[in-house]
Amino acid sequence: MSVTNPPLESVLISESCLQQRIYELGRQIFTDYENQELILLGVLRGSVLFFADLARAIFKAQHESQMKEVALRFEFVQLMSYHDSTQPSTVQLIRGGSDYLKEQHVLIVEDIVDTGHTLNFLCEHLQTLNPKTVKVCTLLDKPSQRQVSVPIDYTGFEISDTFVVGYGLDYAQQYRNLPYIAVLGSI
Ligand code: IMP
Repeated sequence: MSVTNPPLESVLISESCLQQRIYELGRQIFTDYENQELILLGVLRGSVLFFADLARAIFKAQHESQMKEVALRFEFVQLMSYHDSTQPSTVQLIRGGSDYLKEQHVLIVEDIVDTGHTLNFLCEHLQTLNPKTVKVCTLLDKPSQRQVSVPIDYTGFEISDTFVVGYGLDYAQQYRNLPYIAVLGSI
């Protein structure tokens, strides 16, 4: 089977920059939630690599601090967005995001916030489940593309309006396993 992918134009964020920033985010999150229980809620599928490295970064911060801890639980949701040039995006919950979030501190882990519709839908859905708190951690933010205002508590990198792939992000399900973020060439 042969798969023809559009070429990559350039590396936008290298593997070492990603890891350094994720380490900083892990320390910040650990400090903010120390001695509490926290549900990391990953948004499938784009956040999986970020999710895994962030969870380990939180553990590293715990290991360095020795005395304190954050009790982490992993949960996942999957959402589907339908885009149509004439209509606002419609988002649908495919799986996850149920009663187990009640009375819990929840941290949504996203790959990228673009228009904000996906995150807005998820935050509204979670509020119906009565969590104790909901915060958002996104690896990438494209603020210039925002159509709905969404609260973001932890951001890895702000990027300009360009289509990126790698480190979980895909183009037609390809490129998710790159260890860095790259700009896609002309499609
Ligand atoms: P939003 O609802 O427009 O904020 O879109 C969020 C979703 O769109 C992300 O979770 C990604 O799946 C996808 N997305 C937005 N921008 C990019 C990109 O540059 N590369 C890959 N996927 C993207």
